[in-house]
Amino acid sequence: MKPIENPFFAAEEAVEELQKQTKIIFVDMHAETTSEKIAMGRFLDGKVSAVIGTHTHVQTADEQIFPGGTAFLCDAGCTGPQESILGREIEPIIQRFLTHQPQRFGVASKRVTLNGAVVEIDESSGKALHIERVSEMLPDSQTEE
Ligand SMILES: [Fe+2]
Repeated sequence: MKPIENPFFAAEEAVEELQKQTKIIFVDMHAETTSEKIAMGRFLDGKVSAVIGTHTHVQTADEQIFPGGTAFLCDAGCTGPQESILGREIEPIIQRFLTHQPQRFGVASKRVTLNGAVVEIDESSGKALHIERVSEMLPDSQTEE
């Protein structure tokens, strides 16, 4: 079994391999902290088209294009119900924090929102031309149960 690799070295190796096939490389940086996502974005700036973070369910507002031409967004956010706690019904989660007792975490349904980003990439260079953060609520999901 291969030992756990430093993700920065692993990313560098994977990018070098992918560059043999394409100039357009899109990295989904699935991680917890903003610092590690920003560090990976800066590390890969100029080598990939985009580094977009995922995992926290909470969209960040730091979309930008780094000097080397890599589009970046720390977290794309969750596509799902925003009247919730990370997609689950609010009250059982609060009760869990208050009582430490197991609760049934039902899936929430209100204010369903598409979150993400649209990145425009120059096909000949692989560099990002534009990044636009997307956050659009599904019509009629305000009161749906
Ligand atoms: Fe995750």
